Amino acid sequence: MSVRFNRSLFTFILLGFAVPITFAADTGRGGFRPGELWLDDRGVHINAHGGGIIAHDGVYYWFGEHKIAGEAGNVAHVGVHVYSSRDLVHWRDGGIALAVSDNAKSDIVNGCIIERPKVIYNAKTHTFVMWFHLELKGQGYGAARAGLAISDKATGPYKYVGSFRPNKGVLPLGFDAEVKTVPDPGELKDKKSAKAIQAGDSVRQDGQMSRDMTLFVDDDGKGYLLTSSEENRTLHLHELTDDYRGFSGKWTRIFPNASNEAPALFKRAGKYYLFASGTTYWNPNPGRSAMADSIWGPWTVLGNPCRGTQRENATTFASQSTYVLPVSGRPGDFIYMGDRWRPKNAIDGRYVWLPVEWENDRPVLRWHAEWDLSFFTRP
Ligand code: DGJ
Repeated sequence: MSVRFNRSLFTFILLGFAVPITFAADTGRGGFRPGELWLDDRGVHINAHGGGIIAHDGVYYWFGEHKIAGEAGNVAHVGVHVYSSRDLVHWRDGGIALAVSDNAKSDIVNGCIIERPKVIYNAKTHTFVMWFHLELKGQGYGAARAGLAISDKATGPYKYVGSFRPNKGVLPLGFDAEVKTVPDPGELKDKKSAKAIQAGDSVRQDGQMSRDMTLFVDDDGKGYLLTSSEENRTLHLHELTDDYRGFSGKWTRIFPNASNEAPALFKRAGKYYLFASGTTYWNPNPGRSAMADSIWGPWTVLGNPCRGTQRENATTFASQSTYVLPVSGRPGDFIYMGDRWRPKNAIDGRYVWLPVEWENDRPVLRWHAEWDLSFFTRP
């Protein structure tokens, strides 16, 4: 990586080793360099972790968790950061799209946890709709809620609407029995309990837990929240209402008791695909993938999509999935977006973006230390 006397180096000289994150990075990049520092238009490492991207009117908007330095960065002190780009490589800092609150009574008070924000555009209401994983301040990961914020402008500011445990009192597809009142699956440890979870005993009457999540809009305009529920043991797919601000009541469980998190959903040639990870906190683990003919399933496990060394496959190239981005104007071409978390110094988390390659109908990932969009047009 070359060292240039650019703004980053100037910042480094001014502030000394306190800001090593801006040191020695090359802003003149022509493509993606997974895992390396990625500078925005101000010469600062992009701060949009656990992120997702929408394309709107020819512009990409990247939303993600704004992290601060140190372990303190693992909770929200600033909010959701947004960047914009036309080429996916050069990103302009759009500031804070959703800010944490100073009000101690607010769900999104400084010190809560805001993770994996995603935004979709609702053409009916001309509104940008943001959903994110919300944990209430001081409650660790116990609240497990889906937070909602809206804005008329892509870059915000977004107005916080509220948070939910989705589909309170509503049974998932295929359930005809009364939902039982059950303990959290975390309390169900023996084998018999695992069977009970598979059978749906951890579906809750008081609304479903929602942690790692993503959003997906289908070709027919229907929006979905796909989220890790039942103490991260089972994925839940919730259809959103037409304005994307609530739940229609139609929902299903995917891979009960398989402990998937970090879900990312995409569609190619009429088939649905899913990337996910196992549950190992901030540590990377082997990637997972699945496909289905209908978004409602049945879903078929495809296994680890990584095609690298043993170590790369065991860690998904040292990353955890956050989103799969359809490349604008190139139907069928997608970019895998993953996070290389740095929980000891959260702001230094890196982005691992790789082209999604295909083995027949199966999406796979290979390591590319540097690549660009021409990858998709190669013969
Ligand atoms: C893994 C999740 O995917 C992250 O978003 C975050 O919640 C960490 N766990 C916290 O340990």
